[in-house]
Amino acid sequence: MRNTTLTVFVLASIFALSSISWSEEITYRKHIKPVFDSKCIGCHGPQSPELPEFEKDKKKYKEMSKGPRMDSYTYLTSFVGWPDTGAIMRRLDDGKNTKDGKPGNMYQHLGSTEEERQQNLKLFKDWVGNWTLKKWKEITKEELDAIKVKY
Ligand code: HEC
Repeated sequence: MRNTTLTVFVLASIFALSSISWSEEITYRKHIKPVFDSKCIGCHGPQSPELPEFEKDKKKYKEMSKGPRMDSYTYLTSFVGWPDTGAIMRRLDDGKNTKDGKPGNMYQHLGSTEEERQQNLKLFKDWVGNWTLKKWKEITKEELDAIKVKY
């Protein structure tokens, strides 16, 4: 009897753990939007310029601490795929994939502790799927195709 209970317990635990580690797919709605809304929206929200407008007057917007607008699925994915290919990856990388080994300058905004930054970086990485820092001119069609960004 004791053994049976133990076996059931062990099996249940394994099942519970494996379903956590297999976990659901990372989606914009469930995982990325909440992080974005708490960490990024202040500088990339509705008060921010469209990307071409931002690029025209970068200096002004930088001084205002405003980056280009990214507060929707459609906006955000244009900083992953096109036209600003790899921008999210270059800015959020923790230094493991950058040429100079330094973190991208938005990495710091991912959290107030290194643990939180790493957790949120992992969410972004799993969401993007193919974490390449390449720009439009360097990326291949296959590499683009491997980007997931589920809604
Ligand atoms: C305190 C304000 C602030 C916060 C918070 C912030 N950003 Fe930024 N971000 C900026 C500014 C200003 C720029 C433009 C200056 C620059 O290129 O560094 C920028 C640039 C970027 C760019 C490059 C856009 C381009 O086309 O050049 C990306 C991508 C980005 N931010 C993503 C994020 C993400 C994702 C978060 C949240 C984790 C975030 N930022 C949080 C202010 C902020």
